[in-house]
Amino acid sequence: MPWNERQRAMLREMGLRVWTSAVAVPASAAPGARTSARAPEPARQPTRTEAREPSPESPRAASPEPGVPAPAAGHAAAPLDAGALEAVARLDWPGLRQTVADCQACRLCESRKQTVFGVGHPRAHWMIVGEAPGAQEDEQGEPFVGAAGQLLDAMLRALGLDRTDEGDPASRVFIANTLKCRPPGNRNPQPDEMQRCEPFLVRQIQLVQPRIILAMGRFAVQALLRTNEPIGRLRGRVHRYQDVPLVVTYHPAYLLRNLPDKARAWEDLCLAADLMDGEPR
Ligand code: URA
Repeated sequence: MPWNERQRAMLREMGLRVWTSAVAVPASAAPGARTSARAPEPARQPTRTEAREPSPESPRAASPEPGVPAPAAGHAAAPLDAGALEAVARLDWPGLRQTVADCQACRLCESRKQTVFGVGHPRAHWMIVGEAPGAQEDEQGEPFVGAAGQLLDAMLRALGLDRTDEGDPASRVFIANTLKCRPPGNRNPQPDEMQRCEPFLVRQIQLVQPRIILAMGRFAVQALLRTNEPIGRLRGRVHRYQDVPLVVTYHPAYLLRNLPDKARAWEDLCLAADLMDGEPR
């Protein structure tokens, strides 16, 4: 079956070659999809977020940037007690937003410029969960505003989705991160930070009530599916977060450096879109 215009648009937006031949080519087998998705872009200076080589597991590198302090022991985060968890679980949207803005539950409050709550329609049918704010997100208070965010927006556009906070919730996404504060130097989130921040994400999902969740990258997957399985082994099938279908895919920052995997990410988005449409494409 030839690709339809939406599929072509998605490929274009993701920087993959758009085949004009009437011959159907599955994305995973498409010539160029794995090796030469498009002409290489002119070299540019990596942003701080991208400064280290990302892995499929995480867009961040395994070791922190030189000069980045290890997490300070002074503000180690103890697990939230049951009362605090219950309080977060009762918050409404404005209360949750304010609680996140005021949060001092872990050491990240000391280095952040601001918290990054999330962006999008508060009842969006789609929810995207990423990792943690980077430098630009910390500056602007919005998730995915850097180069990875531009790719994410392009992918969403190809599906007819966007992050605006009004209009038809069926064509809107809410974008949140596993951590609401930037880890200094873009180091990986620490387990205690993830544990402290998790109730906020849980409550966001409860309030948004998405019909589908896209978990992007290792830390989102760890938080939502409680597994250390690699992305490559989790993608391509439908998981569940509570009752919500969840699709695992690569993090956009990883895709920026690994063009061939864009084709796989495209397949993941198609899987999610199929679920939402209830029809194969
Ligand atoms: N990477 C993420 O996971 N989230 C952001 O908000 C920005 C980059």
